[in-house]
Formats: sequence, structure tokens, C-alpha cells
Amino acid sequence: MRIPLDGASLDTMTYAGDLGTSPTRLLLLGPQGAGKGTQAQRLAAFTGARHISTGDLIRAEIAAGTRLGRTIKGYNDRGELVPDATVIDMVRPILSEDNWLLDGFPRTLAQAIALDRALGDLGAGLDLVVALEAPDAALIERLSGRRQSEATGKIYHLVSNPPGPDDPGPFIQRDDDRPEHIRRRLELYHAETEPLKEYYAARGLLAHVDALQPIEQVTARILWQMEAHMPARKAAPRAPWAPQPIPLRDEEWRDAVPSAS
Ligand code: AP5
Repeated sequence: MRIPLDGASLDTMTYAGDLGTSPTRLLLLGPQGAGKGTQAQRLAAFTGARHISTGDLIRAEIAAGTRLGRTIKGYNDRGELVPDATVIDMVRPILSEDNWLLDGFPRTLAQAIALDRALGDLGAGLDLVVALEAPDAALIERLSGRRQSEATGKIYHLVSNPPGPDDPGPFIQRDDDRPEHIRRRLELYHAETEPLKEYYAARGLLAHVDALQPIEQVTARILWQMEAHMPARKAAPRAPWAPQPIPLRDEEWRDAVPSAS
């Protein structure tokens, strides 16, 4: 079974591609609203890897009303970054598992270095870093329409990806998805997180994926990158019609995807 070229029928029932069964250590990097959570949920279903979202971990602490949750609530609601040491402490214990997709971590150089150290202590390394690329204007529209099901945790969009009848909801809008907070979050992304692309590109770990494509096509492109770049998951020779998963360079992205800010 090959991944459909247009991704149209790509779901966990039809995909039986070349990914094999070896464990995954993958980072999803990208601005707010690029679709990290959406894609991580889908990739977890395809690969069996655990989806670790630092945003979800933080919101769970806040919802549980723990002391830590009360301390970090203000950062989260305003769209500010929670202090590095706090987030690193939350993530470190989970890293000893060997099959995961990290969504929303690292977001600063300090977090990236802490991740390297933690993996080094385990004798492990990253397989791949996927950078989801989209201009700010599209991200603002997406975040304004985002809703998350309280019952299933699934992420939807009021227009492009509405919930089906099988999800009872209710469908919640996040506090940090208000327009004034979205702008601040994107500013922080460009200042603190975007430079990590160079950090990982220098180590040959970075693959760019166009996040403006429909959800199924983005998943297909990430799966191609995983097949191509994760040695243990090396793909069988590709069919002639399959696009070559050659990463675009950053400067090509700057030309192709102008910032709206
Ligand atoms: P977090 O929960 O990680 O939020 P985020 O990074 O701001 O990312 P989002 O969840 O907003 O976007 P996403 O890329 O996951 O997009 P999604 O799939 O939902 O973090 C929240 C807060 O926690 C931070 O602000 C910070 O305070 C704190 N925090 C977290 N990690 C931290 C860290 N490491 N250090 C410090 N602080 C940290 O999609 C968005 C919408 O678009 C949805 O409606 C979806 O349906 C739609 N959509 C997705 N893909 C497509 C597509 N291809 N086409 C059309 N629509 C699409």
C-alpha cells in the first residue's frame, strides 16, 4: 500500500506504508495554529507513538488546580511561555520512553539543549524534526476558529474541520485563542522558537512541510519525510509518481511564504 498522492483517502485504515515498527523520536516544530496538535494526533494513530504536548500537560495542571497549575495559569492565558525549568521538569520523565512525538517542545534554545542532554543521558537521539510552515495571516484565521472537544480531546475548526456526529463535545475555545493573545504568541514564536530550525538544520535533522495543505495532505507529507529520513524506517524504492521528499531551504520558504506580520 502506498500513500495516496493527494492524501485524500489517507486514514489509519488505508495506510500500511513503509514505516515499519521501530520506535519514533520526532519533534513537531511550528508556529501556533500550524497544525502540530492536529498532525500529532493523526501521526500517533498511524505510528503507535505517544503524543506528548507540553500545551496539553500545562492545561491539565491548570484544570486540576494544582499548585503548579495555579503558578503557570497566567503565562498560559496570556500566551507567554512558561519558564524553561518548569517545562523541562514536566517533560524529562516522559522522555525515557522510546516512542514519542513531541508537540510544542522545545520552544527555546535552553529547552533544546535540555532535550539533547536528557536524550544523551539515555544514549538516545532524535530521529527527525518536522517544521510545519505557514504565514501568520493563515494562522490567525485558524486559531480564531479552533475548538477542542472536552469529551475526546480532538481538535477541530469551525469551518475547515468541523466535528462529526460521533463526538458529543462540548467544544471549547481556548483562553489564549483570543486575537490579542494570538499576536503575542506568534511574536514569541518568531523570536524564541523559529531559530531552532537552524539549530536542527545544522545537524541534518530538519524537514520542512507546507502546513497550508489540507490536513490529510500534510499528514502524507510528514509520513514521506519519516520514511525518507528515519534510517530504521527506510522506505522501499518509491513509485515514480511519488514526490521526492527533499527539504526546502529556509531562504526558499521566506520567498514562498511571506510573513504577514
Ligand atoms: P500549545 O498548546 O502547545 O499551543 P501552541 O504552540 O500555541 O500551538 P497551538 O495548539 O495553538 O497550535 P497547533 O500548531 O497545535 O495547531 P492545531 O493543530 O491546534 O501551548 C499553549 C501554551 O502553553 C503556550 O502559549 C505556553 O504558554 C505554554 N507552553 C506550551 N509548551 C511550552 C514550552 N515548551 N515552553 C514554554 N511554554 C509552553 O490547529 C489549529 C487550528 O487549525 C485547528 O482548529 C485545526 O482544526 C486547524 N487546522 C490544523 N491543520 C489544518 C490544515 N492543514 N488545514 C486547515 N485547518 C487546519
